[in-house]
Amino acid sequence: MTTHEDILAILSTMSLEEKVAQLCQIDMAGFVAEAAASTGTDTQTRADDRCVGSVISGGGADAEDFARVQRALQGRSPHGIPALFMSDVIHGFRTIFPIPLGLACAFDPQQAEKMGRVSAEEATASGLHVTFAPMADVVRDPRWGRCMESAGESPRLCADMAAATVRGFTGKGLGSDSGMACCVKHFAGYGLAEAGRDYAPVDVSRTELYNTYFPPFRAALDAGCRLLMPAFTPVERLPAVMNPWLLNTVLRKQWGFTGMVISDWDAPGELRAHGLAKDAREAAKLSLMAGNDMDMMSGAYAEALTGLVQDGTVPIARLDEAVLRVLEIKRELGLFDKPCKNDSREKQQAACYAPAHRAAAREAALKSCVLLQNGGALPIRAGRRVALAGDHADTRALLGAWRCSGRMEETPTLREAFVGVPVCAPEDADVIVYAVGEEQDDTGEAASKADPALTKAQMDELRRLHALGKPVVVVLFCGRPLILTEVLPLCDALLVAWFPGSEGAKAIRRLLLGEQSPSGHLSMTFPRSVGQIPIHHDALTVARPDRGAPNNRYVSRYLDEQTAPLFPFGFGLSYTRFLMDDVKVSPVMTQSAPAEVSCTVRNVGERDGETVVQLYAQCVHSGRMHPLRQLVAYQRVRLAVGEEKRLTLRVCRDDLLSWDGEGNAEVFTGQWRVYLGESSDAPDVGSFEYRS
Ligand code: BGC
Repeated sequence: MTTHEDILAILSTMSLEEKVAQLCQIDMAGFVAEAAASTGTDTQTRADDRCVGSVISGGGADAEDFARVQRALQGRSPHGIPALFMSDVIHGFRTIFPIPLGLACAFDPQQAEKMGRVSAEEATASGLHVTFAPMADVVRDPRWGRCMESAGESPRLCADMAAATVRGFTGKGLGSDSGMACCVKHFAGYGLAEAGRDYAPVDVSRTELYNTYFPPFRAALDAGCRLLMPAFTPVERLPAVMNPWLLNTVLRKQWGFTGMVISDWDAPGELRAHGLAKDAREAAKLSLMAGNDMDMMSGAYAEALTGLVQDGTVPIARLDEAVLRVLEIKRELGLFDKPCKNDSREKQQAACYAPAHRAAAREAALKSCVLLQNGGALPIRAGRRVALAGDHADTRALLGAWRCSGRMEETPTLREAFVGVPVCAPEDADVIVYAVGEEQDDTGEAASKADPALTKAQMDELRRLHALGKPVVVVLFCGRPLILTEVLPLCDALLVAWFPGSEGAKAIRRLLLGEQSPSGHLSMTFPRSVGQIPIHHDALTVARPDRGAPNNRYVSRYLDEQTAPLFPFGFGLSYTRFLMDDVKVSPVMTQSAPAEVSCTVRNVGERDGETVVQLYAQCVHSGRMHPLRQLVAYQRVRLAVGEEKRLTLRVCRDDLLSWDGEGNAEVFTGQWRVYLGESSDAPDVGSFEYRS
C-alpha cells in the first residue's frame, strides 16, 4: 500500500513540468468522441499528448474508456501517476434521485446518504473517482436556477444534507472499491448572485458568511469531504478562486482543511474578463497564490505555471504544497495501487440501475413530494375516472438538470405509471390531473428567471380545465419555488413533485392514488410574488414588524403586497392530520446539557402517515441581531391511524452559535424562545435559558 512517505518520495523526484501537469484538469471529450462536453463556455478539449493530473467527464464515457485513458495518462507521467476522474454526480449517476432541493424536503438526511451510496456504487463502477457534490450553497432566491442543486434556505438543513451526502459517497472509506471522494461547492455565497442572475456579483458581509453561508461547507468537511470548489462569485470584490481570505484564512487556517481546492470551470481564466488579470500568467499566479490548487479547464496553469516558478514569481514551496494535496487525494482513493476501481463494462452494467437502487430512488421521491393544497380531490378514490392533462404527463424528462448518466428513455412517464387506472379525456373525467411546470433544462446552471411561474399557455390551459367544473389536481414539476398565487384558486389540490428522478412517475402515482400519504415539507419558502424575493423563514429581526394593522404606515411591509409568503418553509400537508400536545421544554441549557423539547404526536386522521416535527429557536436578548426564528432540530415520524408517540428534540450549544466577522463563535446567554410544529409558522411553545 502506498504511504504518505512514498508520496513525498515521488514528489521529491518530480520535474517541474510533471508537477505543473498534476494541477491541470482537462475534459474527457478530448479523449472519447462520445463523451459529452461537461459545461461552461469555451470547452478546451485538446487532449493531444499532454500529461494531466485530472480529467473531467460530462457523461458518455464508460469504465473501459476511463481505464484506457488512465493507462494513457499514466504512460505519459514519468512516475506513472494515475489521473483523477471527476464528474458532476449530483443526485444520482444512472439511477436518478429527486433533485437535491426536493430530496431536502424529506427532512431526512438518511435519504441523502442513500443517494450518495447508490450514486457512488454506480459511478465508481463506471470509472469515476470524485464527484462535484454536495452543492452546499444556501439559497433564498427562486430566480436563481441553481436552487435545484441546493438543500434550500436553512443553513441547518443544508448542513445536514451536505454531511449525509458526503458520508454516503464515502461509504466504507475512499480506498474501498465503491468509495468516492466529494468536492463540496461553491465556496461561498454563490446563492446570493445579485437579482438571482447566474454568475452575477455578490456582496455579502463576513458576519453573514459565518452565520449563514459557511456552516454547510464546514459540515461537509467535518464529514470527511476532501475537495472543495471556490465559487465563480466574489467576496469583497475578489472572485473566490483568487480570494486568500476565503481559501487560506478561513479554509486552511481557521478550519484546518488539508484536502485540495479545484477551481470552477475556467474560473482562473475568467479573471481576465473581470479585468483582474491581464494574461494567463497573472491569472495563474493570483489563483495559485490565493490557495487554488487545481485549474479546471482554463489552461492558465498549463500555460504559465512553469515560467512563474522558474522566474521565482511563484515559490516552489507553494507549487509543491498544491501537488502534494493532489497526490494525497489519489493515495487516499487507493489509485496508486489500483488506478481503476473497475475496468469492466459487465461489472458497470451490473452495478447500474439495479432494482435496489431504483427502490431507494422511489422511496426518496415518495418522501420528497410536497402537498401544498388539498380541497378533498386527493387521494383519488378507486374507480374514479382520471384525466391526465398537461405536457408533463407524457414526458420522460423527469430527471431534472445534472442528470449525469440518467437515461430518459428508460424513465417512465406519468401516463405509463398510470397503467391500470381508467384514464379518459378531461371532459369525461371525475378528476383531472394537470401535470405541468418547468422544463427540466430550464433549471440548474445558467437558468435564471425573472419571473419563476407557469407560462401563459400553461395558465390558459389550467383555466380551461378549471372551467370544466371538475376537481383539478395540479402536479407541479419544478426546480425552484414558483409563484403559485394565481394557480391555487384554479385547482383543488396541488402536489409539488420537483424533478423526482428515475422512479418519480411511479412515486407520484402511489401518492395520487393514496397508497401512501405525501410527507414532504418545503425546503424553501414559496413567495406570493417576485417582489417578495428574497424571502426565507430565518430573516433577522425587524424593529417595526408588520402585524397587519392597516393604519400603521411605518412598518416593514409592502404597500401592494402582503408580507407573509404563500407557503412558509417547512410546510407540507398529508392525507391524515397530526396533533402535537403535552409539550415540555426543559428550562435550562448549558455547555454540556442540551435543552430538550418533548411532545406527544398523534395521528388523528383516517390514514397512516408521516410528518416532520420541526423545532425553531429565537434568541430573545443578545449582543448581535438574530434570526426571528431558525430551524434547530427536526424529526420525521411515522404514525399509524390513532397511534401516538412521545418525541424528544434536543438542542445543544452548537445548534445556537452566533458568529462575528472574524469567525469567533458564541452562544448568547439568556432566554431562547422555541416554536414547535409542522412548518416554520409553528406556535410558540415556551423558552429555555442558556447558561454558559
Ligand atoms: C459549475 C460547477 C460544476 C462544473 C463542472 C461549472 O460550470 O458551476 O458546479 O461542477 O461546471 O461541470
